[in-house]
Amino acid sequence: MSGRPREGRPDEPLDADHVPVLVEEALRYLAPERGGLYVDATVGLGGHAEALLEAAPGASLLGIDRDPRALERAGRRLARFGDRARLVEGRFSELRELLAHAEGAVARPAGILGDLGVSSLQLDTPERGFSFRFDAPLDMRMGSGGHTAGEIVNRYAEADLARIFKDYGEERQARRIARALAAARTEAPIDTTRRLRELILEAKGRAPGRPSGGGGGPRREGRVDPVTRVFQALRIEVNRELAELERFVDEAARLLAEDGRVVVISYHSLEDRIVKNTLRDLARGEIDEVTGRPRAESRILEVLTRKPVRPSPAEVAANPRSRSARLRAAVRRATGESAEP
Ligand SMILES: C[S@@+](CC[C@H](N)C(=O)[O-])C[C@H]1O[C@@H](n2cnc3c(N)ncnc32)[C@H](O)[C@@H]1O
Repeated sequence: MSGRPREGRPDEPLDADHVPVLVEEALRYLAPERGGLYVDATVGLGGHAEALLEAAPGASLLGIDRDPRALERAGRRLARFGDRARLVEGRFSELRELLAHAEGAVARPAGILGDLGVSSLQLDTPERGFSFRFDAPLDMRMGSGGHTAGEIVNRYAEADLARIFKDYGEERQARRIARALAAARTEAPIDTTRRLRELILEAKGRAPGRPSGGGGGPRREGRVDPVTRVFQALRIEVNRELAELERFVDEAARLLAEDGRVVVISYHSLEDRIVKNTLRDLARGEIDEVTGRPRAESRILEVLTRKPVRPSPAEVAANPRSRSARLRAAVRRATGESAEP
């Protein structure tokens, strides 16, 4: 964990041309012109963070990311804001601990942003194994620690692989692909993105061709490659993305100051469903076991987006990775249970 912006290596390009997704919409809901502390829980290359700090001279920002390489880049981009921007390495499911450590126990943010999924830095760095556009070791870890995608593919039981491909990739041929991988790994470990891609295509009865579309997630323009779903599923399992997200949204809502805003941008339906349901539950309140009705004092949020906000056609044309983005926002209510950290 670092309390100050990090310096990147001088030979790395700055990311000033990296365009954050739905940035105007995110700022509109976060309303940083009110000042105070904002948390960017997925600071990535610092695009949203930079826009927020530029728009609101009275705001300061704590940027979190589990990827130390992203933090280096964000640190360089945000260095010009001095003490208004601080960065910490960690998982956003640990928001409460990270915040307490960085700010002291009484910090209650005025806004919290989560821009989910992988960054372009992760997708476009071949050796990290997120993308089937490159041949690379099967890694896919956003941060350090935990199983790599290779360990999962080679060690998980066939039934578990099938469940992951079905549940996290919504892959219709999950069982057939799991069976093919389980058979292939008895001959030799499956340890590269190219080998995995070949095996999936074979199992699906597709000719091996050039990768198309996504490259690691359904976030790019063009036709979706037939292996996209399995790659997405593995990435979600490697990084425990859905469990991370559930905990994050709930904690964020509880930590916010009165009238504080939470904004989450997701990129596929599994993520969006979790965001939608968690915000809805926190807005409805906990069910009283005696009356069977929601307890009014436990309604801690008001949802601001009845439907998810989508990027405009102009944004999608300028930045194809925004295509599947959906933004949801909520505001912390004045009443509600104690949210003391
Ligand atoms: C889409 S990028 C964010 C891009 C950023 N908003 C920007 O404008 O540059 C998502 C980032 O979230 C990070 N991330 C994903 N899951 C995380 C988690 N559970 N905890 C912390 N960071 C996470 C990834 O490492 C990645 O850098």
